[in-house]
Amino acid sequence: MYKIAVIPGDGVGPEVIAEGVKAVRRVGELTNTNYEFIEYNLGGEYYLETGEVLPESILKELKEMDAIYLGAIGHPEVKPGILERGLLLRIRFELDQYINLRPIKLYPGVYTPIKDKGPEEIDFIVVRENTEGLYAGIGGSLKRGTPDEVAMQEMVYTRKGTERCIRYAYGLAQKRRKRLTLVDKSNVLTYGHDLWQRVFREVGEEYPEITQDHAYIDATCMWMVKNPEWFDVIVTCNMFGDIITDLGAIIQGGMGLAAGGNLNPEGVSMFEPIHGSAPKYAGQGKINPLASILAGGMMLEHLGEKRGADLIEEAVMKALASARIKGLGAGQMGLSTQEVGDLIVGFIGS
Ligand code: IPM
Ligand code: MN
Repeated sequence: MYKIAVIPGDGVGPEVIAEGVKAVRRVGELTNTNYEFIEYNLGGEYYLETGEVLPESILKELKEMDAIYLGAIGHPEVKPGILERGLLLRIRFELDQYINLRPIKLYPGVYTPIKDKGPEEIDFIVVRENTEGLYAGIGGSLKRGTPDEVAMQEMVYTRKGTERCIRYAYGLAQKRRKRLTLVDKSNVLTYGHDLWQRVFREVGEEYPEITQDHAYIDATCMWMVKNPEWFDVIVTCNMFGDIITDLGAIIQGGMGLAAGGNLNPEGVSMFEPIHGSAPKYAGQGKINPLASILAGGMMLEHLGEKRGADLIEEAVMKALASARIKGLGAGQMGLSTQEVGDLIVGFIGS
């Protein structure tokens, strides 16, 4: 039996996560596995009502779970940064979810805006460092609001944080096509990304079968569009990983399909669609739940439920191949969020 914390969150979060929960429950029935979902109503509304973003008591409970399943956060009446830092980043940091794993996989039948590229060419995975870098929150300002204002936001890398991330990426490449690309800006970030370069080479000595590759972040944005087939596993820092995975999402068919996991390989991990809360669509059943459902599949894979994970991915592929879903974007599916969820449930194990 698995205990899974569900944080539906804001905007469209609750409606997409409900479909993910439905899919995981169906898998549970078929595989005789009990998934118990414990819901937490955190998010913008909770904050506006209570003045708290993430109470200590709930944080403590989250640390006891087998996994966390998150919808989306972001509320139009809450200043940007409060929920992001106070909830999403706080969970990532406090639970030491040091890997943000984001597959960029184009499924058959899905439109990519990249001409002449198909599922054969678009199948790689980004390992984004998830607890350091520009996200560390180190910085400050001086003489704020005056013409003499100074603002500093530091990029922080530790040897430990860099090494565990790179090591994870090598391990992953080992299970895939054995090519690992370090993406950095070592030509300019000559302290921080020099550390990344050295650690990449050092750890690489333990993995002689892996081809080591390197690309600068700016060029990577170009290659991801021009030659996505060059990539198998990309390892990169927090900020760059954030940026290139939105680019990745669009080449794999859009935010409607992009899922990710915040992993603590030794602790509690959290899975989420990478799209935001899209408040203008909230409650309308227009948003594609496939990203959430795929995140649910990643969660099962991480829990060691390989068959369950495969059942979900296969169901999504069957649904995409069935041509029952007209489009993947908001309001373009020709079906409601719930109907897409039902379609997936129908395909699970079929
Ligand atoms: C993501 C999001 C978050 C991030 C925001 C909401 C803090 O963009 O998960 O990619 O920057 O990591
Ligand atoms: Mn992002």
